[in-house]
Amino acid sequence: VGKNQNSSKKPLAHVAIIMDGNGRWAKQKGLPRIQGHRAGVENLRKILDAVKELKIPYLTVYSFSTENWLRPKEEVKGLMKLLDLFLKKYTKDLIKSKVRLRVIGDYNKLPNLTVKHLEAVMDATKDFSENNLTLALNYSARHEVIGAIKRCYDEMDKESVESLDWNRLSSFLDTKDLPDPDLIIRTSGECRLSNFLLLQGAYAEIYFTPVLWPDFKKEHLEKAIEFYNARERRFGMTSEQINKETHNPVIS
Ligand code: FPP
Repeated sequence: VGKNQNSSKKPLAHVAIIMDGNGRWAKQKGLPRIQGHRAGVENLRKILDAVKELKIPYLTVYSFSTENWLRPKEEVKGLMKLLDLFLKKYTKDLIKSKVRLRVIGDYNKLPNLTVKHLEAVMDATKDFSENNLTLALNYSARHEVIGAIKRCYDEMDKESVESLDWNRLSSFLDTKDLPDPDLIIRTSGECRLSNFLLLQGAYAEIYFTPVLWPDFKKEHLEKAIEFYNARERRFGMTSEQINKETHNPVIS
């Protein structure tokens, strides 16, 4: 990650968003829920631009959780269709704006065509590094950790178990190529993490806003960044230690 030039006083490399409230947005307007998701997708496209303008290199969004399969069949189908649409409509655009697309989560369980499409876009954008959009699809943190432990176990002998540390374990997580999120935003007034990046977000600032996802604009993102900038991240140390401006042991 290169230096980012956003106005923040602190480095802000990675913003992660729980895009919540599409259903309520639609309900308020007397529309079917899927219209809320449609507006949510359009908004994601706009927020991706805003993140780019603010020179934040990584954006990760919770697009479909492992629990979302429990929603009515029609809604699940609609969400998959919207994902296809997003990929169809914006692939050229992603390439033009040099955005690398990644997926975290067990996306192989998505419909075959969607998987193919996702892989094609990931491949077409794999050489970009400046801007990174990661979709969490069929993702849950607990599921991810279990997968990581299984993959890690396959590679470990007794000796490596002894030396297992966070660095090593995190190299088996879906997020192995991403920096930890600095700021996690959840829209729509819910104050939960709902199984999203639980370990990676250990030191993230968490910002909750009542704004529903389709209404969440660049100005709201800027407000969240202001909140982030006003916090002192101590990483378990004291304020005095941090203010000595010694190197930061966790993020440097
Ligand atoms: C929460 O709204 C949102 C989701 C379950 C999925 C988020 C998905 C999108 C923004 C669209 C799909 C994304 C892509 C990239 C295709 P909710 O339905 O829980 O809203 P509610 O809590 O008001 O009912």
